[in-house]
Amino acid sequence: MRLYINIDHVATVRQARRTDEPDPVRAAVLAELGGADGITIHLREDRRHINDRDVRLLAETVRTGINFELAASAPVVDIAVELAPMQATLVPEKREEVTTEGGLNLASDAVRAGVAASLRRLEAAGVRTSLFIDPDLDALDHSAALGANAVELHTGEYANARGDADRATELARLARASDHGHSLGLAVHAGHGLTYENVVPVAALPHIEELNIGHSVVSRAVLVGLERAVREMKEIVGGAPGRVRHPAGWVPPIGF
Ligand code: PXP
Repeated sequence: MRLYINIDHVATVRQARRTDEPDPVRAAVLAELGGADGITIHLREDRRHINDRDVRLLAETVRTGINFELAASAPVVDIAVELAPMQATLVPEKREEVTTEGGLNLASDAVRAGVAASLRRLEAAGVRTSLFIDPDLDALDHSAALGANAVELHTGEYANARGDADRATELARLARASDHGHSLGLAVHAGHGLTYENVVPVAALPHIEELNIGHSVVSRAVLVGLERAVREMKEIVGGAPGRVRHPAGWVPPIGF
């Protein structure tokens, strides 16, 4: 099982201030040091988090491999073809969505035509290809017919399922889809909405070979890193020239 870490939301925090920190390029180095098997980034049309500079620097610096998520639209496929990441995952994209809401609608002739054209261009550039799809058998059949190397099963419905019965139903759907994808010769990946609490049953499915996880890991990083970050700032503030160091929790007496 390969674990790919999606670092989009490091860039989301940066964009909240339109500054230069936190830098997703540095985050990718740390994710790799932590054992990530690859780095996932989504260059959205509206550049709301990852931007062109990030993609170019990551293409130069990532040592494992980049899974480049992109819409099947010519300008962004041009960038993928030029940078030739290890893998490209075609995803549906809507400007108004907060995050990718579902898999590619491969039942649509127009969507299939756009995906096919993008797949051929990516293949010609030597990029391994993957399609982000809902865990439905028809979508898998279409993916195989289109000649993708892999599919990424959308785990959002599983992640959002409330109650044991619904979650078991969604897990069974993922299991059936991963078996079917494997039988069609597709590599099977999964991702979206996976967390420290819900990942294990998905990771236990035998034919899933790659997971893409972002939001939950970045969220946890904020919390597990906050204590140290505050301590470091406190050291700096307390070490300013002429400052008296007070013990932790010290409260100034009234009139101080
Ligand atoms: N896979 C795909 C195709 C995605 O679009 C995303 C979100 O950008 C992820 C995986 C990661 O999802 P999450 O951030 O919920 O872990």
